[in-house]
Amino acid sequence: MTRLTIATTCDILVFGGTGDLSLHKLLPALYHLHNDERLPADTRIFCLARRELDDAAFEALVERHCHAHIAAADLDTQAWRSFVSRLNYLSIDASRSSDIDRLAKRLAHSEGRVMVHYLATAPNLFVPIARNLAQAGLAGPESRIVLEKPLGHSLESALDINAAIGEVFDESRIFRIDHYLGKETVQNLMALRFANLLYEPTWRAAFIDHVQITVNETLGVETRGGYYDGSGAMRDMVQNHLLQLLCLVAMEPPVSYNADAVRNEKLKVLEALRPITGQDTYDKTVRGQYAEGSVGGRDVPAYYFEENVDNDSDTETFVAIQAEVQNWRWAGVPFYLRTGKRMAKKTSEIVIQFKPVPHHLFGTEGHANRLLISIQPEERITAQMMAKRPGKGMSLEPVEFDLNLANAFKQSKRRWDAYERLLLDVIEGDSKLFMRRDEVEAAWRWVDTIIEGWGQHYKRPRPYSAGTNGPEQANLLLQRNGHTWHDSER
Ligand code: BG6
Repeated sequence: MTRLTIATTCDILVFGGTGDLSLHKLLPALYHLHNDERLPADTRIFCLARRELDDAAFEALVERHCHAHIAAADLDTQAWRSFVSRLNYLSIDASRSSDIDRLAKRLAHSEGRVMVHYLATAPNLFVPIARNLAQAGLAGPESRIVLEKPLGHSLESALDINAAIGEVFDESRIFRIDHYLGKETVQNLMALRFANLLYEPTWRAAFIDHVQITVNETLGVETRGGYYDGSGAMRDMVQNHLLQLLCLVAMEPPVSYNADAVRNEKLKVLEALRPITGQDTYDKTVRGQYAEGSVGGRDVPAYYFEENVDNDSDTETFVAIQAEVQNWRWAGVPFYLRTGKRMAKKTSEIVIQFKPVPHHLFGTEGHANRLLISIQPEERITAQMMAKRPGKGMSLEPVEFDLNLANAFKQSKRRWDAYERLLLDVIEGDSKLFMRRDEVEAAWRWVDTIIEGWGQHYKRPRPYSAGTNGPEQANLLLQRNGHTWHDSER
């Protein structure tokens, strides 16, 4: 793979520059990088969108949104002023080549300046924008393109996008982002597995009973009803974030920590996923949609009353799946995936449930070992072990060995947001934490089969009250195997 140059000077172009992603995630992340002096000297940031805004209106918009997404303690007035001086706004319709020509003139791009095109737009704009960039001479070897998920809407559309973008940018310059890979604990999962000897020998079907991967949110669809109603939880969360987490749990140790070695191993996991087809899409998955309810003491409407959502919508806001990785390491181990909006609690966690000891020497070993990897809101890894209760006799009890990552690294100041790390990786040309073309396609292949099965066997999602843990069927999915979701035990 071609090695990309680390930018010493850089232009970052955010397409979809006035959208939620830009205002709530990318610009705050760029502010932090600027404040920490991580951006290459003389970096310019261009926000591009169709809205007509003069500089003052743009600055006011950015300030209003970004300030709500930057902790007060990290907002330094002087740093903010100098950050704003890096920002430029240009009203363009990026799907029109004449507008991109205008952008090229404004950039007055000089050789040696790395250009990052961040496409925070709907996927149907990826190809026209990439082609226009090429035509305007803005897709040269010093440029790279970042594609936000979802990459397409199905395998077919992803193949089309990948092929068309591949004609303009070679693979080493395409960064398909999944911000979960930039989260601290997600990367720590690789450290836990591959920098420690303790767990790896038991990290397999002989010792592990099942795995749970949960990404629950309390938020509803907010202002994104239009996008979400055509997408649903399967395409929005499972195809990318949950499958990427599954890959990191299930992958073999890569031979080295470089982009291709890591991604080769993740690809093998995706290819080993047992396809879920036909009647199995009914038996091994649960689709849900939130009905009205109460979240955090606030009454919230049903999904189909949300803005820009069809009032007879069949879109799922909850998915649970019993997946299986068919290879030597994992055959027979259920991997339960679950994600939902308007759930009781915001939690992203991975539970590795070990098998019970083979012989109950003390007669009371009711609890098998369990490793709990909390991604958010807390970053911590907890191992549940059996210990003897103090006093006479061998009365045992599970205790938790707690590795609170935030406390363990107290000396480091602010915790980085995933987007900061990933933006810096793009600038530095490191694609380890980005999805390769074949990975995205393999994930779509698996997901598409399920969606197709739903079309025949599971048209209507099951309602669940907002503020709960999803439909009862999600509990039954595990109960039939003698398992329970971790949260139902709390
Ligand atoms: C995005 C999804 O990729 O991830 C959103 O499109 C979801 O629907 C978000 O809310 C969750 O990310 P995080 O970092 O808040 O867990």
